[in-house]
Amino acid sequence: MRIGTISDLHIDRSKDYYPQDFEFILSKEIARLKLDVLLIAGDVSNHYLQTIQFVQNVKQQSNIEVLFIPGNHDYWKSEQEEKTSYEIFEYYKSQPESIIGSPYIINDEWAIVGHSGWYDYSFADHDKFSLERLEHRKYYGSTWLDKEHIDWGKSDLEMSKLAAASVKNDLEQVKDKNIILMTHIVTHKKFAVPMPHRIFDYFNAFIGTSDFDQFYEIYPIKYSIMGHVHFRNIIEESGIQYICPCLGYQREWRTKNLETEIQNTIQIIEI
Ligand SMILES: [Fe+2]
Repeated sequence: MRIGTISDLHIDRSKDYYPQDFEFILSKEIARLKLDVLLIAGDVSNHYLQTIQFVQNVKQQSNIEVLFIPGNHDYWKSEQEEKTSYEIFEYYKSQPESIIGSPYIINDEWAIVGHSGWYDYSFADHDKFSLERLEHRKYYGSTWLDKEHIDWGKSDLEMSKLAAASVKNDLEQVKDKNIILMTHIVTHKKFAVPMPHRIFDYFNAFIGTSDFDQFYEIYPIKYSIMGHVHFRNIIEESGIQYICPCLGYQREWRTKNLETEIQNTIQIIEI
């Protein structure tokens, strides 16, 4: 079985391609690579309806199983939006393609567990910044934009703990199998922006969480997929592959061609 992974498509942020182009090119790539399942690790767009529509369209066009979890951008809302952030979360959770709170059993040997996860500030330079300063989510004239577009009614540290509790519950259900874990938020410090760094000594606070560390010790996780940081990289450590398959914003691409970039981004897990 061939499982493709991709993240951070940001289909609404390209100046040369429409969301339909992303759907068409991604579906074409799924066929070329002969994938059986596609995992999308969040940040499809800045609006939940657009994100869900995209996931459904790719599923329909490619005719394979498409599973996803939302990223922080997928939770963003405009001022006119009537749903609360929590209602948007619940809406995602109710979608058949979402695996939050419902592990996907592939067969007797393999299962997929997923959650957006949330950042717990632990990746920042704590010698330089107090918790209070990080909670401000503003530094060097830049605001971390989740502050303006998402309101959980809880602290980020509490959100990270809630996400970890949900994932632990799911992992318990499938611990007799090999596990593919998918998050949006980074769970391995090697994917943080290397420090010292002028601004990421601060902004790394919002990249990752350490609340998942224990899971890699306790549960048979073989692959850990994540996005958010816009890297394309694989790390292998203690028999676990950590995969960060981010397409990223068009300005971050190495070429101007979406097809080439998607080809260079998708990582395949063969089981
Ligand atoms: Fe993100």
